[in-house]
Amino acid sequence: MDNRPIGFFDSGIGGLTAIPYLAKSLPEERIVYFGDTARTPYGSKAVNTIRIFAMQIAEFLKSQDVKMIVTACNTVTATCLPLLREKYPDIPIIGVIKPAAEKAAMICSRENHIGIIGTKATISNGAYEREIGNFKSGLDIHSMACPIFVPLIEEGIITDDIMTLSVRHYLDDFIGSNHIDTLVLGCTHYPLIRKQIETLYPSLKIIDPSQEVIGRIRAVLTERDMLAENSSFLNTFYASDLSDNFINMINIIFKDEDFKVAFKSFDIK
Ligand code: DGL
Repeated sequence: MDNRPIGFFDSGIGGLTAIPYLAKSLPEERIVYFGDTARTPYGSKAVNTIRIFAMQIAEFLKSQDVKMIVTACNTVTATCLPLLREKYPDIPIIGVIKPAAEKAAMICSRENHIGIIGTKATISNGAYEREIGNFKSGLDIHSMACPIFVPLIEEGIITDDIMTLSVRHYLDDFIGSNHIDTLVLGCTHYPLIRKQIETLYPSLKIIDPSQEVIGRIRAVLTERDMLAENSSFLNTFYASDLSDNFINMINIIFKDEDFKVAFKSFDIK
């Protein structure tokens, strides 16, 4: 048993999409979340910059005495996971890509056409193709960076026509010409536009890493006898810019529960 909180982080509000799944599946667990809302988006930045940011945040979460760190960001997972694990060997660090890749490999055969959408950094890294290939070879995989989605979502532009147009701009041709039948939402912000994607392309099977990572969290905590029981820790959400959108999202997720919201910034390097 370990009642310390789990540390989650993302470039902004994206990682929050994993929290309802955690609350449902592991209701005893408590969290410290950090959203780097002042420096979002990460996905269009240089890998070295993303690494500096990720290291700063991991160090901060460690200082909050978390028992595990979840990189609730595909971009950080793709570009920084080995580095983070090397720097912090004493703490389990869980990424979102492997669990989603495993799911894609499990439900797909060579007849399927898998689409991966994500940030520029995630897509150019090729992490999904590699991870899916480790589980099953020979699958048909296509990938596509959709860099406009995250800035729009961070602005709260989610249900407007602008978002529908942006989704169609990237996905109409990608899905049509590659005959995509299974789509991996390879950015933790994208579950927030899942409804729009499903409405436009109703026959797609969708894989959501924010959901898939929960099984991995459970497995690692169980393996290490680190599940929480009756923790009195108050869920705490830090952001480098306490934007209205960040606070609104938390209010939606934890409408009937107490939580703490706080500001935390880092030196810009
Ligand atoms: N939500 C993140 C991801 O999963 C980061 C997106 C960004 O900041 O560009 O990739």
